[in-house]
Amino acid sequence: MTTTLEPCFLHSFKLFASSREFKFPATNRGKSVLRLQAQGKITHQFIPAKSATACDTDVPRFDENSLIRRREFVHLSTIPFLLPFCVSEKEFAANALEVDGDEQSVMQIEIKKVVSKAKAPGMLRLVFHDAGTYQTEENSGGMNGSIILELDRPENSGLSKSVKILEKAKGVIDKYEQVSWADMIAMAGAQAVFVCGGPFIPVRLGRKDSMVPDAEGKLPLETLDAPALKKCFLSKGLSTQELVVLSGAHTIGGKGFGNPTVFDNSYFKVLLEKPWRSSGGMSSMVGLPSDHALAEDEECIRWITAYAGDQTKFFEDFKRAYIKLVNSGAKWKNA
Ligand code: HEM
Repeated sequence: MTTTLEPCFLHSFKLFASSREFKFPATNRGKSVLRLQAQGKITHQFIPAKSATACDTDVPRFDENSLIRRREFVHLSTIPFLLPFCVSEKEFAANALEVDGDEQSVMQIEIKKVVSKAKAPGMLRLVFHDAGTYQTEENSGGMNGSIILELDRPENSGLSKSVKILEKAKGVIDKYEQVSWADMIAMAGAQAVFVCGGPFIPVRLGRKDSMVPDAEGKLPLETLDAPALKKCFLSKGLSTQELVVLSGAHTIGGKGFGNPTVFDNSYFKVLLEKPWRSSGGMSSMVGLPSDHALAEDEECIRWITAYAGDQTKFFEDFKRAYIKLVNSGAKWKNA
C-alpha cells in the first residue's frame, strides 16, 4: 500500500519536533503507520493485521461500521495539523480537536504552555484592550495586535507582563509559520477562559496585525456610569447584553468576585449582593466602579439576574460575545 500526502500536510507534520506515530487503518487487513522522526523525516510501514482473537490495544479491530467511525476519527485527528497553517480562515478549536491528548497544532501547544491559571486574568484583559478600541462608524481599531504598540498608555498598565509571556510562545510558533499578534491574543484569551473552567471557545485564525497604534481614548473608563458604558459599547457594535456578559470576565482576577482563577458566574451573583455598599472591610473593595454601575441599571440587572441564575446561559452567551469581540475590526489574510 502506498500513502500519498499533500505538500501542506507534510509541512504540518514537520511542525512537530518529537517523534510521533499516525495510524491509518485503510483496510481491516492491516494498518499503515507513519512515523515522524525528530528531524521531520517521515517513515512509512505497513503492519498486517493479527488474527481475529489477537489482543491489539494499539488499534482496535473493526467491523464495517467501526471502520467508518475510525476513518472519521483519522479525518478529525488530522484537522489540527492542517487548520492553523493551511486553512487559516476556518474556525479552529483550541482544545476541542484534541483527540487523545497529544494531537494538536504547535500554536495550541505553545499557548497552553504559557497560559496558566495564574496568567489567565492578564491574558483575558489583553484581549479587551486590543479588540475594545473598535469603532464601527469609522471601522477603526479592533482586534489587530496594535496593543503591542500601545503598552505605554496608562489604561494598558500591567499588560506588558502578559505580552512578554506570549512573546515566548510566539517566538517558537514563528519558527514554523508567522502568526499575528492579533491571532495570538485571541487564542490566548480563549485558552485563559478554558483553563479557568470556562467554556471552550473556537477561535478563527488569519488576522493581520496593524502596523500603527489605534486612536487613543477608545476604551471605557472605569468611572463611567451605565448609560455611558452602554453608549461606549454600542459604538463598538456591542449591545447592553454583550456589555454585561463580557464584563463577566471580571469574575477572574483580583476584583473580589469569588475565586480569582475560576471562571464561573460568581461575578453576577456578587453583583446582586452589592457588597461594596457595606461600610469598610474587604467587601467594600469588591468590584470596579463600572461593575457597580451595571448593578444599578435596570436593563443590566435583568441580564445580571439571568446569568446569576444560569451559568450555562452565561457560558453560551459569553462564548458568542467573545467570538464577536475578537473578530471586531479584524482584517483577514485570506479575505
Ligand atoms: C465594561 C468596561 C470595562 C472596564 C471599565 C474595565 C476596566 C478594568 C480595570 C480598571 C481593571 C483592573 C486592572 C488592574 O487591576 O490594574 C480590569 C481588570 C480586568 N478586566 Fe476589565 N474592564 C471592562 C471590561 C472588560 C472586558 C469586556 C473584559 C474581557 C472580555 C475585561 C477583562 C478584564 C480582566 C480579566 C481583568 C482582571 C485582570 C487582572 O486581574 O490581571 N474587562 N478591567
